Amino acid sequence: MRQPTPDVVAHRGASAHHAEHTRGAYELALEQGADALECDIRVSRDGHLVCVHDRRIDRTSNARGVVSELTVAAMAEVDFTGWRHELPGSADELVRGPAGARERGVLTLDELLGMVRDHSRPVRLFVETKHPVRYGGLVEHKLVALLARYGMAGPADPESSPVLMMSFSQSAVRRFREAAPGVPTVQLFKRFRGSWRTGVLPPWADLAGPDIRLLREDPGFVERAAALGRDTYCWTVDEVADVELCRRAGVRFMATNAPASTRFHLAQS
Ligand code: G3P
Ligand code: CA
Repeated sequence: MRQPTPDVVAHRGASAHHAEHTRGAYELALEQGADALECDIRVSRDGHLVCVHDRRIDRTSNARGVVSELTVAAMAEVDFTGWRHELPGSADELVRGPAGARERGVLTLDELLGMVRDHSRPVRLFVETKHPVRYGGLVEHKLVALLARYGMAGPADPESSPVLMMSFSQSAVRRFREAAPGVPTVQLFKRFRGSWRTGVLPPWADLAGPDIRLLREDPGFVERAAALGRDTYCWTVDEVADVELCRRAGVRFMATNAPASTRFHLAQS
């Protein structure tokens, strides 16, 4: 699976320039030529998988509340873009995005999968499950069921899978692997555990998913993991020096908040 140039994964969409986890952020990422998209998912009160990073919607919307206590209908009128106008890098035309308007309503994973399926060129989606303990099993179960509806729950060739599942929780990755063996998995981590530094990861993880800070200290990890058959997905790579580090180290997938500039730097190197 190794390749000379890492694939660019738009982290929460083109989130350096648009409100994260919104339709506009993902449309902008696709316009900017991202090879893949990343999203976080949680379960809403009425059992839908929705694309929200935090436990609450306070930081990324004009409303307040815990995602798992809100229905999709209750979030239908919530503005998930306005907060971003206040932040640096929010030139209005970028924040408003290709759709040219503010966005209301939480983005569901169902909608995002539809965007991926209907896009004019092949793109992948990296889905990160959150709250693995409180809703242990439920998120993965719902994810597999939804992927099955899209015919994405188990391609014959994992290499061509349009979806990859990932989590910091080893239990979540293992549960998902058991439920959908044909969908590639990524074990995310912020520090090396046990033998991980040597490239030996849990058997249920296809890819290693280190924080870029680990690769700054130890770029050789990528090669050790590759020697044991595991490609690396690295996050979050926004600095030029980190883009170059990932390229040299042989990282396969690089998650960035700024797909356009990351692609630009890769093209220059
Ligand atoms: O892509 C992995 C990365 O998103 C993990 O961290 O907190 O941004 O979900 P977080
Ligand atoms: Ca994430």
